[in-house]
Order: sequence, then C-alpha cells, then structure tokens
Amino acid sequence: MHLHLRNFFMAYTDAGQGQPILFIHGFPLTRKLWQPQVEGLANTMRILAPDLRGHGDSQAIPGPYSMDLLADDLNAFLDELEINRPVIVCGLSMGGYVAFAFFRKYKARMAGLILTATRASPDTAEAKAGRDQSTNLIKEMGAPAIVERMLPKLLSPKAYENNPAVVTRARSIMENVSPEGLLGDLAGLRDRPDSTPTLGTIRIPTLILAGGEDQIIPLEEVRAMQAGIHGARLVVIPEAGHLPNLENPERFNWAIREFVKEII
Ligand code: MLT
Repeated sequence: MHLHLRNFFMAYTDAGQGQPILFIHGFPLTRKLWQPQVEGLANTMRILAPDLRGHGDSQAIPGPYSMDLLADDLNAFLDELEINRPVIVCGLSMGGYVAFAFFRKYKARMAGLILTATRASPDTAEAKAGRDQSTNLIKEMGAPAIVERMLPKLLSPKAYENNPAVVTRARSIMENVSPEGLLGDLAGLRDRPDSTPTLGTIRIPTLILAGGEDQIIPLEEVRAMQAGIHGARLVVIPEAGHLPNLENPERFNWAIREFVKEII
C-alpha cells in the first residue's frame, strides 16, 4: 500500500486488527524486516510498518533525514490512516532513535514503547567519523558496498556462519535502500541528539528487547538504558544479534504478545 505524505509517497504494510503497533525499521533496512512480526502477530494486533522515506518502496528524496523529520513523517502517517487510539511504538536501532524523537514530540499518541537493539546515547566522535567514511564509500562505490560492510555486523556470528537462510533474508532486506536514503540516514544518525535525558521522562510502559550477541549495541549500554527508564522491562534474546526479531521471531513475538496483553 502507498499513500502521499507531506512531500513523498510512503509505502507501508497494514495488517491485522486491534491494538496498533507502529514498527520502525533501522538502517540500512526496510519494512520487510518486520515480516516475521506480520506473520506471527497480526492475528491479535494491528501491525503498521512503513518504509521510511528513501527506503524500500517509499520514494527516494534527498536528505538529511533527522530523527525529528522521520518522527514527523510517522505522525503524518498515523494521521493519514486516521489512527486515533494510542499506538505502541516499536523501533529497532535507528528506529529506536526515531522512537525517542517520536516520544518527545508526540507522546500523547503513545500507549507503550518497545526499544529493540538500540541505545539512547548519541554518536561518539569515532562513530561520527565512521558515518562520514560510509558516506564517502556510498558516493564512490554505490549502495551495495555498504550492504556487504554491514551484513556481518547485523547478525550474530553464529547465524552469519551457519544460517544461510537468515543471511540471505537480511541481505535482501538491505538491498532495497536507495543511495539517497542511505546518505539521508547517515547524516541524521551522525547528528542525532542525545536521548539520555529523555529516559527519565518516559512514563509509559516500556519493553526493551536485545540480542545477547549484538555486535553493534553492547548489552551494558542496553542495561544502562533500562536503568534510566522507570519500570522498563528487559528481555535479552540469547544467541541473537542486532536483528533479534529476524533471528528468533518466536521469542521476540512472544515477548511482544506478553507486553501487549499486560498494557491494554
Ligand atoms: C541500525 O541498525 O539502525 C544502525 O546500526 C544504527 C546505528 O548505526 O547507530
């Protein structure tokens, strides 16, 4: 499905009925990331999974894409679909950074927050330099170069070596992001604000999901984030990497189902 939003066409999945959950994918990914959640959860809740601008089947327009801009897109998306009841927002990695921005701007629209494989802190100087390197790589070599560079880091080492089906699936999700989208993200990621001061202001039910083998977000950081959010629950999915929803959909979906049952 597509709709015209602000200044671009946004593609999205809208499946199931009941409590809406807005799923926000990460970098350099698309809404196809959430296919295991569409398959496992749409029988009991409404899954809303858009492609962010420049990603997947959404229109590619030049960045930068600040986290606030992406949150504004999602707010306009909910308006267009006339979603009037509070939604649960689930963001993975960059999607989590967008979820923090969404919380700061639109918390009245939220029934709950699910932070997956993400962090509150901003980029370090080293990480910012890494963003600039990736930007140059895409300008010189095109989008596929970033896919091959990121792929081994997205999955747990075990899945990367022994689970060709999950590797192929992750690669196919990454292959559908435009160069404009990647460059827009990288600028937004590099300059995103520190969400640490936001943590203490979160007063809605919060679930944190993390892969025990995540090579991008260390567990200590996840635990510090949990400690900062009043009453937040943490579920660590052992043996999963940065994409726990794809590596262990049963465990991931179970945690979401339990969370939703408790809060609605
Ligand atoms: C993501 O998965 O969205 C990115 O790895 C986030 C990041 O690089 O900070």
